Amino acid sequence: MFLSSLVLKGFKSYSERVEVNFSPKIAVIIGSNGVGKSNALEGIAWALGEDDLNALRCRNRMDLFFGGSQITAPADEASIELTFENSSTRHRFCRCLSRSGKEVFMVNDTAVSGVPEYQEALNSIGVPTRCHNVIRQEELTDFFVKPPSERRHYLQQYIGSDGDLERVNNLFDEYIQALLPGSRARIVNWNGEVGPDLEVTFPDKGVKWGVLLSGGERAVTALALKLALFNLVRSPMFMMDEVEPSMDWTRNHNMQGLLKKISQNRQLIMVTHFQSTIQMADTVHGVRIRPDGSSWLKFHFLMDERLFKIYKCC
Ligand SMILES: Nc1ncnc2c1ncn2[C@@H]1O[C@H](COP(=O)(O)OP(=O)(O)OP(=O)(O)O)[C@@H](O)[C@H]1O
Ligand SMILES: [Mg+2]
Repeated sequence: MFLSSLVLKGFKSYSERVEVNFSPKIAVIIGSNGVGKSNALEGIAWALGEDDLNALRCRNRMDLFFGGSQITAPADEASIELTFENSSTRHRFCRCLSRSGKEVFMVNDTAVSGVPEYQEALNSIGVPTRCHNVIRQEELTDFFVKPPSERRHYLQQYIGSDGDLERVNNLFDEYIQALLPGSRARIVNWNGEVGPDLEVTFPDKGVKWGVLLSGGERAVTALALKLALFNLVRSPMFMMDEVEPSMDWTRNHNMQGLLKKISQNRQLIMVTHFQSTIQMADTVHGVRIRPDGSSWLKFHFLMDERLFKIYKCC
């Protein structure tokens, strides 16, 4: 099962209907700053049931609607449609909100009675309703600055038993070694009073604790941790919004190898400005600003060196 199509209409910076078709492995979304790349990922999260306005970067629910520009009126309705498919079936889910407050949830073009039925339909095809499989742009390394109680709460969204903890620690260790060969990592103090922490050993450096890591070390450690946690979520895809900026060339290169491996089992939808990430994509999706100031997620091509050169990236 993978997310094959996303339709945005009236949602945040998307005024008119825009449809994008993703590849089953690695789909990359590119475009200049402020064009609406992160908004597209938030659209997916919202359609999967995300209601946390902070996570959706909204002051209130009205910010979910296209707010209008000098020449285009504000949207009265915000809707997101997701299509999941595998080789034999296709399932369509749509969440639609109008300014009056009326909200409609549709499954395969039929309105369902409410949120529970919508969630049940998503769960029945293996898609979780709360979006615990996205790394948001501002949140990659936020684990390190959370107070201990919040760190525990964050991890408990994924880890429910000692068995889960062991699984996560095994993967965390495997992923950190893939990103930085010779490193080791694990979650420690799971039941301790001070709250859980991360213990990381980098080659030639000895043991380090989360808070002592450099910016790049934090990014690598957080990426390995989050990918390990995501593995506990029964979800067909992982989404990542600009996870690379503080990683050096080697870490970036190693990350590509790791993500390619993960993409054998999960679809990856990544927002990036990085050439190295774009190059590993199966499909590339470009977001542009229209003359009316709204977003347009349109140009789509199979990864190709010639087309790649037209986009200026880092
Ligand atoms: N409700 C809304 N109506 C209209 N525009 C909106 C709305 N909500 C957000 N925007 C606009 O969307 C733009 C931000 O989009 P987004 O955060 O998706 O950009 P981005 O492509 O991810 O950029 P970056 O590369 O800087 O992360 C901002 O210019 C913001 O004003
Ligand atoms: Mg962004």
